[in-house]
Amino acid sequence: MCGIVGYIGNQKAHPILIKGLLNLEYRGYDSAGIAVIDNGNICVKKDKGRVENLLNIEGINDLKGTIGIAHTRWATHGKPSKENSHPHSDNSKNFAVVHNGIIENYNELREFLKNKGYNFISQTDTEIIPNLIHYYYSQNPKTNTEIDFLKAVKSAVDDLKGSYAIQVICKDYPDEIIVVRKDSPLVIGKGNGENFIASDIPAVLSYTKDFYLLDDNEYGVIYRNVVHFFDSSLLEHNKAIKTIDWDSSSAEKCGFEDYMLKEIYEQPTAIRETVSSYLRIEEKCNFESLNFTKEYLSKIDKIYIIACGTAMHAGLVGKSAIEKLCRIPVTVDIASEFRYRDPIVDSNTLCIFISQSGETADTIAALKLSKSFGAKTLAISNVIGSSITREADYTIYTHAGPEIAVASTKAYTSQVVLMNILAIYFAEILEKSNKNDLDNLKREIFDLPSKIEKTLDDSEEIKDFAKKVYTQKDMFFIGRGMDYNTSLEGSLKLKEISYIHSEAYPAGELKHGPIALIENGVTVIGVLTDEHLTQKSISNLQEVITRGARTLVITNQVLTNINFDYVINIPCTNPLLSSIIAIVPLQLFSYYISKFKGLDVDKPRNLAKSVTVE
Ligand code: G6P
Repeated sequence: MCGIVGYIGNQKAHPILIKGLLNLEYRGYDSAGIAVIDNGNICVKKDKGRVENLLNIEGINDLKGTIGIAHTRWATHGKPSKENSHPHSDNSKNFAVVHNGIIENYNELREFLKNKGYNFISQTDTEIIPNLIHYYYSQNPKTNTEIDFLKAVKSAVDDLKGSYAIQVICKDYPDEIIVVRKDSPLVIGKGNGENFIASDIPAVLSYTKDFYLLDDNEYGVIYRNVVHFFDSSLLEHNKAIKTIDWDSSSAEKCGFEDYMLKEIYEQPTAIRETVSSYLRIEEKCNFESLNFTKEYLSKIDKIYIIACGTAMHAGLVGKSAIEKLCRIPVTVDIASEFRYRDPIVDSNTLCIFISQSGETADTIAALKLSKSFGAKTLAISNVIGSSITREADYTIYTHAGPEIAVASTKAYTSQVVLMNILAIYFAEILEKSNKNDLDNLKREIFDLPSKIEKTLDDSEEIKDFAKKVYTQKDMFFIGRGMDYNTSLEGSLKLKEISYIHSEAYPAGELKHGPIALIENGVTVIGVLTDEHLTQKSISNLQEVITRGARTLVITNQVLTNINFDYVINIPCTNPLLSSIIAIVPLQLFSYYISKFKGLDVDKPRNLAKSVTVE
């Protein structure tokens, strides 16, 4: 989705803006552009295509301006083209604006402005914003008095419906950038005599670790040495800085060919970091940010886990862990479905939201809805201070470090481990599970990083199998229980980065339809990690082998008399944790298939890392 970068300081702005945009490439985009105040004029350079293309636009290297805004666009209103790229200007070229989000009433505002004589060059919703600001700036229609830059921006923003993170510069105010947001992220990085603006922290992490996290309906007026904050009525207030502990090298490739591969190999560290923050063998689990009591948890009659994509798959594992250890019924729902299904939620419901980015629009909307029904809300996120963490009653963090590749890997395994720790925490408060069982599970959790390292050592075998099947059109993933959850995530990874059609099925369900699709040479991947279900899944695999399927099996069981084409052996663990190990070969499998097909692993077509629109 769209990315925003801004700079004001004493250095030339355009190299910093372009570097920031390159750091945001992982979000997915189709056009890029910058606007710099140079020699008293706003100079806009933009085009469809890659950020690198900006460097070839005539005159860009001559820019000397030290204040500018920049954007990568992921098309919503209007196709990818130079005209539709941001920044957008008003007719008089007095203002330039970049915008993330969607203006829902843009048609109405466009008509209003057209009637006032404004012309539009693009098909975007964004182009109304600089013109509306100009309209208010040039005359205050209500009082007929002159208004300044900030008041003009505020008057325009008051007219907008929808979601937005907006950055504005004005030719008449060459020493300030104005920002405002609603339901779309924006942070301000504080430097020394310079300040940075970004939709995502990694964009400017190499310059600063100190950030102001802008709130909904809050304005920031950013100068070189200072930032002023105002509420929606333009009353000024102070704002605290948050220091981010991410290392800037964690947002770089560090010798790996792709971010995804690096992030797959970072999983042992990500899990160690997450586990050591919350888990002790001889003590009860402790989440400093949670204060759940036995009385409260005993009153809870159901838990919802709500998320999108990979985070939803982590939720499915969380459901198994909470139900098994706490005997509380858990429903897992996709955020975009939950919010429109009139869910049964009240003050006896606990709603847990999982989101790596903490910015997924549907997940945030589902959280707000649950709150309005009186439920307690708990967010699980990887990004400190992200929007979801600011909306929720409680937050706990995974410590996976920045995840750059669109396809989620280390965030998934960190979310799964955290859901298990949360289930243990609830079980200890409720005194529901046997202490020995919980202690054994804790030990297994501590052993996970070394078991993942062992699994990563077998990457050549996976690569070998990927080479044999990468030209296929369809693949199936099957498993039962926890292995079905792993299959869902494995299948999603394959779709995302290899563009191969794939489906995940509970192994026992295959014969109720999908087996009709099995023919000679089709690949079926079986996940077999639960000793109680292994024989049953083997029978289902035999059914597809009989019909000509080629099989890859991921297992921690000792299999005898088998006729599978490939078997990848992985270490044993508690069934509640098996997905954390079994998903690793499947992540590598998708990765190598994507590489053999010559695709862009980190930036798959049509996808975005952080989905900030509905
Ligand atoms: C997008 C990403 C997925 C991610 C999903 C939810 O679709 O491409 O990798 O799982 O959003 O993102 P979140 O940040 O809420 O976990």
